[in-house]
Amino acid sequence: MHDSRIALVTGASRGIGAEVARQLAEPDTHVIVNYREKVKRAQTVADDIRALGGRASTLGADISDETAVAAMIAEIGERFGRLDMLVLNASGGLEQGADSGYAMRLNRDAQRRLVELALPLMPTGARIVFVTSHQAHFYPHKAVPKGYAPIALSKRAGETALHGMKHEFDRRGIHFTVVSGDMIDGTIIIRLLQRRDPDAVDARRSFAPLPTVEEFASAIAGAARSPYHPGIVYVGGSDYLVDRSA
Ligand SMILES: NC(=O)c1ccc[n+]([C@@H]2O[C@H](COP(=O)([O-])OP(=O)(O)OC[C@H]3O[C@@H](n4cnc5c(N)ncnc54)[C@H](OP(=O)(O)O)[C@@H]3O)[C@@H](O)[C@H]2O)c1
Repeated sequence: MHDSRIALVTGASRGIGAEVARQLAEPDTHVIVNYREKVKRAQTVADDIRALGGRASTLGADISDETAVAAMIAEIGERFGRLDMLVLNASGGLEQGADSGYAMRLNRDAQRRLVELALPLMPTGARIVFVTSHQAHFYPHKAVPKGYAPIALSKRAGETALHGMKHEFDRRGIHFTVVSGDMIDGTIIIRLLQRRDPDAVDARRSFAPLPTVEEFASAIAGAARSPYHPGIVYVGGSDYLVDRSA
């Protein structure tokens, strides 16, 4: 069968992005699994999709590297000629050894640049989904775990920068949705935050069971496919939504 829809999921070699890639796999969709360095993990995700009858390939690119991103988009253009779904999932800044400007370069500048490069490949009706956390989306109106403020600031700046492109999205008939989640159970980020600020993670758990990777990924994949365009989708953390002033 001919691929009729092409989806790119950034940072899909593990965690939430890998699950989004799996959930986007449908017979008429070719899923491109982007990764930064974990090629084997990315290949496993693509293999899993193919084993279930889906279509997938891997494409390595450090999103914060301008040249690598341009090469990735050029390859998508040459191979498929179009991009119907762009899921901006890759994120970072808590990595050991990351310099102080890295979070902003990756979570704001790189997201905007990737979108600018991808837009010419995206037909009317195509979707862009930006994945974020409640800790970032509501920043600085809510407290964040220790050490997370630079990430929250940069992801919030990325979301704002993409909203700033709304006129261009509208002109091209492209739908932009933000999917924001509470802390997601079982992820590496939660294990990292648990070590840095156990009280912050316990406080979220005591409010309600944390959403699972599958639940969050389902909302993200749904936003990339749905005929409805809610603009923003929240997953978990209903207390964030009722009291924005605290
Ligand atoms: N975890 C949570 O509790 C939570 C809650 C709400 C929202 N979110 C959001 O969900 C998204 C995914 O989170 P996660 O917990 O699944 O993350 P994760 O486990 O840290 O996975 C990060 C993924 O992004 C890739 N990546 C990292 N830096 C990259 C770069 N510079 N260029 C390209 N790819 C890069 C990694 O690839 P390699 O493996 O190749 O390095 C990996 O596939 C993020 O946007 C995050 O903010 C997470």
